[in-house]
Amino acid sequence: MSVEQTLSIIKPDGIQKNLIGEIYNRFEKAGLEIVASKMLHLSKDQAEGFYSVHSERPFYSDLVNYMMSGPVMVQVLQGESAIDANRKIMGATNPSEAAAGSIRADFADSIEENIVHGSDGPETAIHEINFFFDDSEICQRTRT
Ligand code: CMP
Repeated sequence: MSVEQTLSIIKPDGIQKNLIGEIYNRFEKAGLEIVASKMLHLSKDQAEGFYSVHSERPFYSDLVNYMMSGPVMVQVLQGESAIDANRKIMGATNPSEAAAGSIRADFADSIEENIVHGSDGPETAIHEINFFFDDSEICQRTRT
């Protein structure tokens, strides 16, 4: 076990459903710290760039349009095994396969519109955090 950082996004459907506080509460209750956070309305370049790994997939164009359809919240979560911890809190990509009590099982309408994103591994986490945040925007907790 080691302390990790991971990139989390509350997608436009999560913002539309007014779930920011609910989702942040789940992160904090699981012991994850939010060490950076901001609301953005993604441009086409940002949405395409963030999901460029999926550019050959049939759902890419719909995914880009979905991610531009409203504002998102992006945040860096920090804690023990934060990458896996966040993926457990989110549940499987397809909400019909997501574990009971996970964000996607509780709130997502479909595999396309699935409320949240989370980095899937250590290298992806570094890349995705750097995509949205400068080092100066990540604030370590200084009170113990
Ligand atoms: P996310 O975990 O952000 O990773 C890629 C996103 O593409 C995924 O969540 C969904 O929002 C979207 N998506 C749409 N269709 C699919 C699919 N068939 N498989 C995986 N992801 C999909």
